[in-house]
Amino acid sequence: MKTHAFKIYKTGAPSVMKWEEVELGKPERGEVLLRHTAIGFNMVETYFRSGLYPLPSLPSGIGGEGAGVIEAVGRGVKGLKAGDRVCYAGGPMGSYAEARLIPAAGLIKLPSHVDEQTAAASLLKGTTVQFLFNEVHKLKKGETIVFHAAAGGVGLIACQWAKAVGATVIGTVSTPEKALIAKRHGCKHPIVVKKNQDLTDAVMRITKGAGVDVVYDSIGKDLWRSSMDSVRRRGLVVNFGSASGTPPLFDLALEGNKKSAYFTRAAGNNYMTSPDVRNAAARHLFRMMKSGAIKVHAGQTYPLREAAKAHRDAAARKTTGSTLLIP
Ligand SMILES: NC(=O)c1ccc[n+]([C@@H]2O[C@H](COP(=O)([O-])OP(=O)(O)OC[C@H]3O[C@@H](n4cnc5c(N)ncnc54)[C@H](OP(=O)(O)O)[C@@H]3O)[C@@H](O)[C@H]2O)c1
Repeated sequence: MKTHAFKIYKTGAPSVMKWEEVELGKPERGEVLLRHTAIGFNMVETYFRSGLYPLPSLPSGIGGEGAGVIEAVGRGVKGLKAGDRVCYAGGPMGSYAEARLIPAAGLIKLPSHVDEQTAAASLLKGTTVQFLFNEVHKLKKGETIVFHAAAGGVGLIACQWAKAVGATVIGTVSTPEKALIAKRHGCKHPIVVKKNQDLTDAVMRITKGAGVDVVYDSIGKDLWRSSMDSVRRRGLVVNFGSASGTPPLFDLALEGNKKSAYFTRAAGNNYMTSPDVRNAAARHLFRMMKSGAIKVHAGQTYPLREAAKAHRDAAARKTTGSTLLIP
């Protein structure tokens, strides 16, 4: 079967993503042929495409999240059949494609209350929030957190999830419009932050000088200093992304003496360690969605062929909520 997919031969600007015709064979043992109906864009794809994060090999497909309908199954595949609606997140790379062959083991069957676009807009982002709030730290009622990029894809799900738990969110955003969107999704204190601005004073004012229990920092370079200064004594600072570049090196003794805070880098592959774990996190997310606690907001949708535009808009910070690519 002939289909189309993006491939990259070298890292660099969005234009390195090349739209190509691809010949797909029949699914091998343990694989399925999946026709995508929606693909989730994630910020991390800009890091791989630009070279900020290393790719396992080149040439490479790009994208690790999608949803669609199974067209055919290979030998040995259990529990899935042609016609099933499924989604996946966290790889393997190559979701920027109209269709693909993919191991059945990582696929998650969609419950009837989740449509394919909602799944592609929420699976990776929502399961990230799931492990940030349940595994990295068990977020509790009464706690206060800083969550950067509060109006983004991960951010809007995080604001709603934290509110449902009974935690208070101080969220950073870059514009008043984004502040309004974050607020509507449960962020009690949106703060509009300009590049490299120190937000510690604002956080200390809100927390009456105590600092927050946990800082969730996906920005890295630009806000790391503020993140470390905004946490309470013996609180936790979690870096889980590098939207502005990786966080700078710091002097552990110097920083530790100030507050004895805990620091961690929460990489998804150290939490989503098996298909079963991912499945359980997805079920948790779907329950939160079914209860009405979390509504998924896809702020923008692009034709798949215009993926480069999605990358450019994300880097220019023009997006809100989740971003979908539609084949
Ligand atoms: N560790 C993991 O397993 C994991 C999994 C999923 C996502 N993540 C990370 O979580 C973050 C959110 O992911 P997402 O896909 O939902 O993206 P997103 O939040 O929708 O987009 C990134 C946001 O970061 C903010 N930002 C701040 N400085 C920026 C800069 N210099 N360049 C571009 N954006 C900047 C922008 O919001 P403002 O304009 O409001 O500042 C932008 O909208 C990303 O950093 C991603 O890598 C990590």
